[in-house]
Amino acid sequence: MKVFSFFLSFFIDLRSQEWLYICHVSHFQTTGDYYTLSIADLSFFIIRDKQGAIQAFHNVCRHRAYRITSKENGCAPVLRCRYHGWSYNTAGQLIKAPHFENVASFDRRENGLFPIHTKVLSNGMVFINLSASTQPPMEWEDSPVVNLAADSLWMGGCSIETRLDWKGIPDLCVRPSWWSTAKKVHFFFPSSSVYALDTSMWYTVSAWPQENGETRVRCDVYAKEKGKQKTAERVLTLLKERINATTQETQISDSIVELEHEVKIRLKMHRQLEETLGRQVHPTKQEQRGHERFAQAEKLCADLECLASKAAPGGVLAW
Ligand code: FES
Repeated sequence: MKVFSFFLSFFIDLRSQEWLYICHVSHFQTTGDYYTLSIADLSFFIIRDKQGAIQAFHNVCRHRAYRITSKENGCAPVLRCRYHGWSYNTAGQLIKAPHFENVASFDRRENGLFPIHTKVLSNGMVFINLSASTQPPMEWEDSPVVNLAADSLWMGGCSIETRLDWKGIPDLCVRPSWWSTAKKVHFFFPSSSVYALDTSMWYTVSAWPQENGETRVRCDVYAKEKGKQKTAERVLTLLKERINATTQETQISDSIVELEHEVKIRLKMHRQLEETLGRQVHPTKQEQRGHERFAQAEKLCADLECLASKAAPGGVLAW
């Protein structure tokens, strides 16, 4: 694992008690609407299930860890892994596992997607928490700090890949010169901010570090009512121009220094905890299966795969 990735994964682990703001519920209008996101080497997706609830899952097939969703946004009432065809419903349950159906001891119920703690606040803001154990409390759950409405409309968004430092992105994304009324409303750890243009329009900016050392910036605009597309397009254009015009050399931000300081303190505390316990501690790590029945099914699959690759020219899998 690269040093960069290791450091960030470690950081995510340390802050697993935090609730991370991801997006607004207006992104999920119909069953199967999903949104995929990666933070460092951790990929997950948020989806609207059949009952209309918003759920989040690790983007990892329970068969051999292939990614389930590859697009940033989409709609899929059934999520099918493209490797060997295991399929999951919007509640993360395994509904199809080719070649395992007749294995008497294989239980589909034990092989659903790993869920992620999810909360949708009364203002429609969607948060996740990556802790692999009990769901931690959320301080502001009953009094959402942002004056968005659950029925606000998503006016549009864009994703920008940049080499800028993710920790300083929120400081770049508000300039009174763009809009005389624009102001930052709230900052959510580690790198998401909500800005208000006026009392009826907002935009959000989140910056997520990626495994390859880049930063993925996500910008979205929301409004109380329809007919604000032109304003939304203008805001997104200004944000893109601002980010693209900034270089690593010219990116100056107090937030970078503050966040780096916090990371160092957390790393030190975590190291002390591991030394006390005498083992490594990974709060976000999901339990791996060690079940004998799965091992049998896995062996069967490997045998079938071997047969298929022998039968197919070039070793291409037949399913
Ligand atoms: S890795 Fe997903 S079906 Fe095999």
